[in-house]
Amino acid sequence: MTIKEIQDKILQLKKEKDICIVAHSYQAREIIEIADFSGDSYQLSVEASKVSNKTVIMCGVRFMGETVKILSPNKTVLLSNPQAGCPMAEQMDKALISSVKQQYPDYTVVAYINTTAELKTICDVCVTSSSAVKIVKNIPNKNILFLPDCNLGAWVAKQVPEKNVKLLQGGCPIHAAVNTDDVKKIKALHPNALVLVHPECVPAVVDMADYVGSTSGIMEYAEKSSAKEFIIGTEISIAEHLQYRCPEKMFYGLSHKLLCPNMRINTLVDVFNCVIGVSGEEIILDDETIAKAHVCIEKMIELAN
Ligand code: 13P
Ligand code: SF4
Repeated sequence: MTIKEIQDKILQLKKEKDICIVAHSYQAREIIEIADFSGDSYQLSVEASKVSNKTVIMCGVRFMGETVKILSPNKTVLLSNPQAGCPMAEQMDKALISSVKQQYPDYTVVAYINTTAELKTICDVCVTSSSAVKIVKNIPNKNILFLPDCNLGAWVAKQVPEKNVKLLQGGCPIHAAVNTDDVKKIKALHPNALVLVHPECVPAVVDMADYVGSTSGIMEYAEKSSAKEFIIGTEISIAEHLQYRCPEKMFYGLSHKLLCPNMRINTLVDVFNCVIGVSGEEIILDDETIAKAHVCIEKMIELAN
């Protein structure tokens, strides 16, 4: 079968079976093309809460599937490839954070959405890269315990100096692998290009950027900018999507290190197999986890508005 034939079959079956397909922006182009919607983590959370289909297929990583399940507990939520976890989301567990919370009893616990549903049950509010600054500003408490990403947390703390932000030492192994030498090397090749990076990169890389933002933020910035060349400091899929969207501009991936194997393990064939019911992982969460984690995600949506 050709890519087009598989896409057509998926589109036909998802209609017949009342399935909604949701794809994170890091997914391959052929998956994004058949998705009902795609976007950054925040956009996926908001859109997922409005879905009316009885089944949702998440083309992304497990915590994104869990977020959909938390917001729509009565739906069947399937992760298109069971191997797609996010290593950052697995870095800190409930036992560790419970003990850290005891040391910081008067802190509001802010969890990056890249955390497990279980960990969210003991946090106060979630944030995504696109909503974190606004949400931290809107939290009445001055004391913030930010987890797990110390790079995103440092970027937020810099923009909200009125808050006392305590960081824990977690983060994305993919974004954090990029260093200032990588930026210098690619800048030397493309001296006129603007550098756009995700805040999961280390502060020294973030400091060299012309723009810092979420995956959707980077895409929007590049599309609206009058500049013609861009170095993209997030998963390399974003440089590719932008190149298709803006053929008159040039996009360069900042480094070959920016390839997330967890996001990229999802293929169009996985989605097809999920739609026909022969693969995929059903996201199962108990009622108590859903109820407690829901508070954290609802608070995010409330404070981001
Ligand atoms: P966004 O919130 O920008 O979609 O980022 C999600 C993610 O996993 C980045 O590595
Ligand atoms: Fe997780 Fe990093 Fe991959 Fe995003 S890029 S899914 S944070 S490992």
